[in-house]
Amino acid sequence: MKALVYRGPRDVVVEDRPDPTIQAPTDAIIRITTTNICGSDLHMYEGRTSVEEGKILGHENMGVVEAVGDALTRIKVGDRVSVPFNIACGTCRNCLHGWTSFCLRTNPTEGMDGAAYGYANMGPYDGGQAQFLRVPYADFNLLRLPSGTEHENDFTMLSDIFPTGWHGTELAGQAPGDTVAVFGAGPVGLMAAHSAMIKGADRVFVVDKETDRLAMAGKLGAIPVNFAEGDPVQQIMDATDGVGADCGVEAVGYQAHDPSGDEHPELVLDNLVDVVRSTGGIGVVGVYVPQDPNGPDKQAREGRIGWQYGTFFTKGQRMGTGQAPVMRYNRQLRDLIIAGRAQPSFLVSHELPLAEAPEAYGHFDRREHGWTKVLLHPND
Ligand SMILES: NC(=O)c1ccc[n+]([C@@H]2O[C@H](COP(=O)([O-])OP(=O)(O)OC[C@H]3O[C@@H](n4cnc5c(N)ncnc54)[C@H](O)[C@@H]3O)[C@@H](O)[C@H]2O)c1
Ligand SMILES: [Zn+2]
Ligand SMILES: [Zn+2]
Repeated sequence: MKALVYRGPRDVVVEDRPDPTIQAPTDAIIRITTTNICGSDLHMYEGRTSVEEGKILGHENMGVVEAVGDALTRIKVGDRVSVPFNIACGTCRNCLHGWTSFCLRTNPTEGMDGAAYGYANMGPYDGGQAQFLRVPYADFNLLRLPSGTEHENDFTMLSDIFPTGWHGTELAGQAPGDTVAVFGAGPVGLMAAHSAMIKGADRVFVVDKETDRLAMAGKLGAIPVNFAEGDPVQQIMDATDGVGADCGVEAVGYQAHDPSGDEHPELVLDNLVDVVRSTGGIGVVGVYVPQDPNGPDKQAREGRIGWQYGTFFTKGQRMGTGQAPVMRYNRQLRDLIIAGRAQPSFLVSHELPLAEAPEAYGHFDRREHGWTKVLLHPND
């Protein structure tokens, strides 16, 4: 099969690889219909993780079941499915408590709970930016979708970013009527804004400096805040009579930067502590890593970030972090799509064959105007 492989910083290629096979009776093989490039892939693409060369990337996958292991009873060949990016066993303590993103069984990496396809530190699993993908514990992990091709570009957001954006608002403790501040208007931030509005937010501010992304936030009904035009905290304070937001979502991650492009991993955490009112919640779904080989200073290279914890404590705020447990939300979000209440496909800017993926990584990595979300169709 053809697959997109990581070779080194800013070097990804499409190669021939052996088709995946059933390795355990609980496995399924999926023929990929759509797989997306994610902002999380860019951390690896830029050489900012410890991902190994030769890994097939891709954790946002959907497709049709091609083969099943003998132990599967629920999932059948021919089922159209969404594949959550988390690989979970379904029976460990964390899975049983709904924390499939911290499965205790699927990641053999020392000190790391939780596994994913095609991702640094998340176990030895290849990704789905390829024609086929092996899915472990498939009866547990796969979400069935209505057969056919309807809603393909909406359903493809169910593997990661729609549940992740939703999770950001959950970690933030958002209630109906809240004013929400979302930092980052990338795909995850825009999904968080979409989620916040579905959940009855009064107002949603979305902060970024990319004008095309801010325009999308505006189209959603959110209030765009351009941090290149002035301190985003001050802009939101001015717009809320000095009250600030009830809660906030961090959808940027450790490569947060100032308007000139210089990285400050603490910048958005500090902004959120300032802009969220006392006792408010902050949901951090933007990724922070324990090792960053090219971090801006020694502290950052060791994943140590100096942010204003003292003010956070004094304000009695709460913070939730980590990879999203996709399965906690994906069924309900699928049904909101079918009911016409959610339409996450508004993000999609490009649909390309796998052969064009290496170039697409470059465009998306440079946040080129109009490159908001790239979908790949490896079997077209
Ligand atoms: N927790 C999870 O389960 C999970 C899942 C998917 C993605 N993620 C992470 O979420 C983050 C966002 O993903 P994405 O796909 O939207 O990525 P992205 O890189 O496309 O978007 C990030 C956006 O943040 C903006 N930004 C940079 N500095 C900023 C600042 N100081 N203030 C406000 N905005 C700023 C950038 O301009 C960019 O538009 C990434 O770190 C990604 O790894 C986490
Ligand atoms: Zn992703
Ligand atoms: Zn588990």
